[in-house]
Order: sequence, then structure tokens, then C-alpha cells
Amino acid sequence: MLDVAFTAAQARPAAVTVVIDVLRATSTIVQALDAGYCRVLCAPDLEHARGLAGPDRVLAGERHCVRPPGFDLGNSPAQTLPPRGRELVLATTNGAPAIVRAAELSEVVLIAALLNLDAVVAALAGVEDLQLLCSGTDGRPALEDAYAAGRIADRLAGEHSDSARICLAVASTYPDARGALAASADALVLVREGLGDDIEWCARESTVDLAPRAHGLHDGTAAVDRSSSID
Ligand code: MLT
Repeated sequence: MLDVAFTAAQARPAAVTVVIDVLRATSTIVQALDAGYCRVLCAPDLEHARGLAGPDRVLAGERHCVRPPGFDLGNSPAQTLPPRGRELVLATTNGAPAIVRAAELSEVVLIAALLNLDAVVAALAGVEDLQLLCSGTDGRPALEDAYAAGRIADRLAGEHSDSARICLAVASTYPDARGALAASADALVLVREGLGDDIEWCARESTVDLAPRAHGLHDGTAAVDRSSSID
């Protein structure tokens, strides 16, 4: 069964969970690992992230889409180039906590964005108990995540739940990713904050050949690296 959770609160245990936060946390993670960061440490909140600060670690994140005080970077994928350290510590409102939640529920957690669509689909071939976990926004579904979930579901055979069928319908509504992302409430907020370029960046498809995996939880933090093996 391929199922979709529209928010982290809807997540359930599954053999494999794929976390999606197209605008922008999972796009930033995928881009950061492709740029050369060895790991992305996903923190449940800002204080936790500040506690992880250290040599060769770069603090990134947002509150209300804006870089928090004392952080090195915001949550823009473009800001991960070039890498400024070995590890990126990421604290965001919805995406990073969703990854932490997924790591509590599933042994195997992959990170998906449109940037790595092909790689994620390839990594999921043959998975039978699959949950696509949309991070949503403040406890509510987000259009861009449902769109990406639909794009993934469309390319995977097998039984689909009704929530997966809803995402397929969403994905078929838009001629391209840019249109779907631009129609979302989260895009409006980004534009308002002067971060409209991030929408274009996150709408790019399959520019990164990685399906990053989160490796369990350590002190409440989920460490994501480039490995995608789900055996
Ligand atoms: C989040 O995790 O809530 C998002 O990635 C917000 C953002 O666009 O920075």
C-alpha cells in the first residue's frame, strides 16, 4: 500500500517513510548534500539546533521563513552553495520536525523534493509498505507537498490509498511544478518575504541524483546523509 499523510500528526509507522517539504526544508536538505555537506542534522526546534553548534557545523533554518537570530543561514537551498562546513544543522517550522517524527515511526526514512524526484522514485521500487509524509504547514496540508506526493505516487505501481489518489488528482491539475508551487499559500509567504527565487529553485526537477536517508534519532536529532539504501 502506498499511503500519504498530509501532516506530521497523521503519520503512522510504516516500513518506509518518505518526508516531503518542497517549500523548502527537504529541498534545502537535498541541495545541501549535493553541494557537499556530509550530513544534515535535523533538529526539532531552534534551541535544540543552537545546542548542536560547533566547529565545522553551519546553523541553518527559519521562523516565519526568515533566518533566526544567530543562525548562519536561512532555509534557502541556494544558500547551501558553496558549503561552509562539513555538517548543516537545520531547524525549520514544519519540515525538520516532520523528519524527526518520521524517524520515530519508521526504520527507513528518505528525504524527497522535486529536486531529487527521479532518484527517490528509483529508490522506492518494490517497497510495499510506503508512506509519503507531507510536512504541511502549521498542522495543515500544503498544496506543494501534495503535488510532489502525487508526482511520486504516479510513478509507483501497487495499491494506492485514497489520500494517495487525492495527491494524484492534485498533481494532474497543474501543467508543471512551477505552476503548482506558485499556487500555494507558502509561495505567497515566500514572495512577501522577498524569497520568491526559492520557488523557482524548488520547482526544478531531478537536478540532484540522491535519495538521502535519515539514520534514526540521536538525542532528538535526525541525521540525514547521502546514502539511500533501504535494504
Ligand atoms: C518549514 O519547515 O516549515 C519550511 O521549510 C518553511 C520554509 O519555507 O522555510
